[in-house]
Amino acid sequence: MQNNDKVRLVWDCKGSNIYPVADEITHQTIEFINPCQASSYDSIFDLWIQKPDYARAEDPNGRIFRGDNLLLMEFLINNGYRGAFDLIYIDPPYLSSSAYNSTIKIKDSGSDISDHISRPVFSDHGTEGIDKYLNDIYPRLKIMKELLSERGSIFVHLDWHISHYVKILLDEIFSPDSLINEIVWCYGGGSGSKRHFHRKHDVILWYAGSKEYIFHPQYRPYTAGTLERGLTRIKGDKYQLHQEGALMQDWWTDINKILSPTAGENLKFPTQKPEALLKRIVLTASNQGSLVADFYAGSGTMAAVSQEMGRRWVICDDSPIAIQTSLERLIKQGRGTFTIEQVGIDPQPPDKRSYLKLKPPSIQRFNETSALLLLGIEDYIPHEQNRSLLKNNWGIKNLIDFWEVDLNYDGSIFKSEVQVLRDRKVYDDSISLSLKLRVSIRNAYKIAVKVYDVFGDSALQVQEFNM
Ligand SMILES: C[S@@+](CC[C@H](N)C(=O)[O-])C[C@H]1O[C@@H](n2cnc3c(N)ncnc32)[C@H](O)[C@@H]1O
Repeated sequence: MQNNDKVRLVWDCKGSNIYPVADEITHQTIEFINPCQASSYDSIFDLWIQKPDYARAEDPNGRIFRGDNLLLMEFLINNGYRGAFDLIYIDPPYLSSSAYNSTIKIKDSGSDISDHISRPVFSDHGTEGIDKYLNDIYPRLKIMKELLSERGSIFVHLDWHISHYVKILLDEIFSPDSLINEIVWCYGGGSGSKRHFHRKHDVILWYAGSKEYIFHPQYRPYTAGTLERGLTRIKGDKYQLHQEGALMQDWWTDINKILSPTAGENLKFPTQKPEALLKRIVLTASNQGSLVADFYAGSGTMAAVSQEMGRRWVICDDSPIAIQTSLERLIKQGRGTFTIEQVGIDPQPPDKRSYLKLKPPSIQRFNETSALLLLGIEDYIPHEQNRSLLKNNWGIKNLIDFWEVDLNYDGSIFKSEVQVLRDRKVYDDSISLSLKLRVSIRNAYKIAVKVYDVFGDSALQVQEFNM
């Protein structure tokens, strides 16, 4: 596939935003996570028996990066990932001029009093205009091409606002004949307009790096009419019905948006895409064991799907709420280990803004090799800037989103070995603030607890004691 030099999209400051963007890219691994969710109702959570194999966390299946994706992609290029990805899916801002918030409800289980807090996630280039948008995405698309493997593909998810401009950029970067499909994803829901047709589709532009791109055909059920008639009556004996169904077209009407607020999949993350959509893309353009990426991760849909389907993955987002939503989602999913890493300087360092106090730990010998450890949270005070968002004075059980334990803290990277999550989606007082664990016997313990709150902040406290 050759580059076509003849057609270019031009805007005033084109080329002013280029990489390398930094001489040296700061990078820090923040957490290793081995999903192991303790139920609030367990009297003893038998971590010792359930997870003897913690060493796997050193070889994670996935990596969540916090920070700007241009910095991350440059970091990946510098660290051996050039040509490493079989699939890149991105769902970037659409130039929709909207500010996106994730709104959650805080409530006590026994009362009707509640607070809704609206947590800003990202704003979609409101007043900045098309040239600023193109200037942001152009170098990113270029570096994504360098990250693609010989057999790799990129899927760029957009809508009517900007897809036509980005198509021309992709033609320039990849070449027009590298466009494999313009997929039209149709969905329903919402009310219509009296001034134009209801806008009910997105566009997904699929470009491949070479003619050898990975492609696994997908199928859809035959229509009732086709099944009744059979193909042969129309097309002759040459055509038979396939067992798998009919070959999928480039317009998809069988997957809807996540519309219902109570849908199991709904994580209250604005712009969250359905897993079924991402599964189709992952199945089509990657293999078991492929490395895949989503550099605009949002709620982590791509990571969750890749984890389920045996792909290794990298995701990135610069919003703390997006990172926390992805983290919690992957813990709940409970498959495979992954990391959280920071690229670039964190403008709002977590762990330092809120206050966490733990109860003094208690430990008792259980048998020859194991002991019972009781851990508990005594106090948590969110950052005052966040507390001022609330009308009511809520207790810590309402304000803690979830918490994690590292049973052997090394003083730098937090290794999350067990996590206490909410059972329900409402931020009520049902989360447990204490945990009884069966752990192996050691002379000395250094245990760290990390709390994530509903505002996207976190705090860490360490306890050292002897058996
Ligand atoms: C449309 S949402 C993605 C939604 C996602 N597909 C899902 O299913 O949840 C776009 C995301 O890109 C993130 N984002 C925007 N610009 C970014 C940048 N330069 N670097 C990293 N993340 C960015 C936003 O914070 C937002 O979470």
